[in-house]
Amino acid sequence: MSTVQRSLVLVKPDGVRRGLSGEVLRRIEAKGYTLAAVELRTATPELLAAHYAEHEGKPFYGPLVEFMLSGPVLAVVIEGERCIEGFRSLAGATDPTKAAPGTIRGDLGRDWGVAVQQNIVHGSDSEESAAREIGIWFPQLA
Ligand code: PPS
Repeated sequence: MSTVQRSLVLVKPDGVRRGLSGEVLRRIEAKGYTLAAVELRTATPELLAAHYAEHEGKPFYGPLVEFMLSGPVLAVVIEGERCIEGFRSLAGATDPTKAAPGTIRGDLGRDWGVAVQQNIVHGSDSEESAAREIGIWFPQLA
């Protein structure tokens, strides 16, 4: 049975600002996943409200949206068997200080002493989220 999936990956504004977009794409391709779409985008409050709808009301919601509006993001759709789980493994733990070495966040991220956690990448966490998020960022692919 085929388990080919698509996942939405975002290189967040900290990653783009630090020139890490190419490194993130390199790790995705080195793992063997295919790039189905790549686009440098400036998010809007409306788009982020849809993307982060499940986190509305959490203490980090406002600062997270503000951070995501602070610069361009690289929006990417990746493809491959079990790539949703696979990219989450590549990304590492949410907190870059705790993320294991060898992961994107563990190798390239750190705590910068600012209120908002800057953790370089986002990856969809389930098939349902991936379908929803790809529909938000790339409606033409949905
Ligand atoms: S939760 O509550 O367990 O669902 O949260 P989690 O999955 O760890 O994180 C959800 C998204 O919120 C981001 N996050 C934060 N951003 C900024 N500052 C703080 N303190 C913070 N805590 C969580 C986290 O990176 C997730 O964003 P994405 O874009 O999905 O990676």
